[in-house]
Amino acid sequence: MTLQAVEKQFSMLKDKEIIVGITGGIAAYKTADLVRQLTKKGANVHVVMTKNAMEFVTPLTFQTISGNPVIHKMFELFAGSKIGHITLSDIADQLVIVPATANMIGKVANGIADDFLSTMVMATTVPVFFVPSMNTKMWSSKMVQANIEKLKDAGYEFMEPASGDLACGTEGKGRLPAIEEILERMEDIFTSKDLTEETVLVTAGPTMEFIDPVRCITNRSSGKMGYAVAKMAKRRGADVTLITGPATIEFPRNDIDIVHVTTACQMRDAVMEHYKKAGVVIMTAAVADFRCREENCQKIKKKGDSNYMTLELEKNPDIIGELGKVKEQRIIVGFAAETENLLDNAKEKLKKKNLDIIVANDVAKAGIGFGSDNNEVMIIEKSGKAKQVPLLSKEEIANIILDSVKKALKNKKRIKEDWY
Ligand SMILES: Cc1cc2nc3c(=O)[nH]c(=O)nc-3n(C[C@H](O)[C@H](O)[C@H](O)COP(=O)(O)O)c2cc1C
Repeated sequence: MTLQAVEKQFSMLKDKEIIVGITGGIAAYKTADLVRQLTKKGANVHVVMTKNAMEFVTPLTFQTISGNPVIHKMFELFAGSKIGHITLSDIADQLVIVPATANMIGKVANGIADDFLSTMVMATTVPVFFVPSMNTKMWSSKMVQANIEKLKDAGYEFMEPASGDLACGTEGKGRLPAIEEILERMEDIFTSKDLTEETVLVTAGPTMEFIDPVRCITNRSSGKMGYAVAKMAKRRGADVTLITGPATIEFPRNDIDIVHVTTACQMRDAVMEHYKKAGVVIMTAAVADFRCREENCQKIKKKGDSNYMTLELEKNPDIIGELGKVKEQRIIVGFAAETENLLDNAKEKLKKKNLDIIVANDVAKAGIGFGSDNNEVMIIEKSGKAKQVPLLSKEEIANIILDSVKKALKNKKRIKEDWY
């Protein structure tokens, strides 16, 4: 299976009928990328544009990317004399307005339906998601903010604009958020919230141990598995904290607490600081086993004619082992990246470290594990029950791990109830 096929297979947006409304803002050109990404994820996209949006971008672009006719005329019936705004809102699963102008927000907040898009918003019962973008002064105007509050109270979904350089030459809040973030929120809207009562701590990425100011010992972990776990736990409603080593990827949500660390010792301190408030700890980070015994403040120079040099290494703290000793009622999930005897080594680690679940993966296999978007793992529970998970995207694997966590939480709760 190709990576694109794996991504498409998993997305909550797959096979969904998505209506993308475009209004007359300068960020309208960015919506082309959103439509492209949505179709890549397997959604069927119908674009609706206001008359003013067409001053910025043309329907031709969106018709080409979405593969569907672009709608912008209010009084043109669909095939079979069907009324367009009713027909479209009836088949839709989600309506997203990107960018949403101050004008469109104001119209909907006040019940005005004078073009196709605003009329359809009135006619639909599916989630409507506004992604505003405008000049900072417009954004902070009392009228815009009051309209947004009114719409939020009525159940409409909103995303805050990002801050930065604006097209009008000023700087501040008002930029369209990154397309990745918009997609994440759209997926969020479709995800059932079954972890709302849980606080989840996730560690991710590699650690970096310095040899001297310019050299270090690290590993090939990209952070993708841990970021996927944090993202999915958040989507499912958990309160999430992510402790990350120096990963090379961006985290696509700004609504979780992220703690950045570099070394294994810093990772240990951060875990010990945050684990107490968590009911679930998922340790995906690839923590270096050793660090340099002596850290050199100056760059080490080549000395003499010898072809060899010796570095003396010292053991790093065993974070997961330490946590296993103080875990109490918490569910702890560990990862075992192995190159041989996968099942036996993982089972031994699960027992030795007092874990509830261990996720084992064969990092020697091509196309999975470190740096890859996919993984193929074995999930082993405390009872010894092992589940082989085939090649899937890391996000889907994260969801399967979270299902096992839910089961473990339920079991623990049941045991506690039986006891008392
Ligand atoms: C060059 C230019 C850029 C504009 N950019 C924005 C914008 O980013 N956000 C916004 O709310 N309005 C913006 N406006 C104002 C809207 O185009 C205007 O309020 C219009 O009535 C919106 O129509 P609509 O909501 O029906 O699409 C801009 C206007 C111009 C001339």
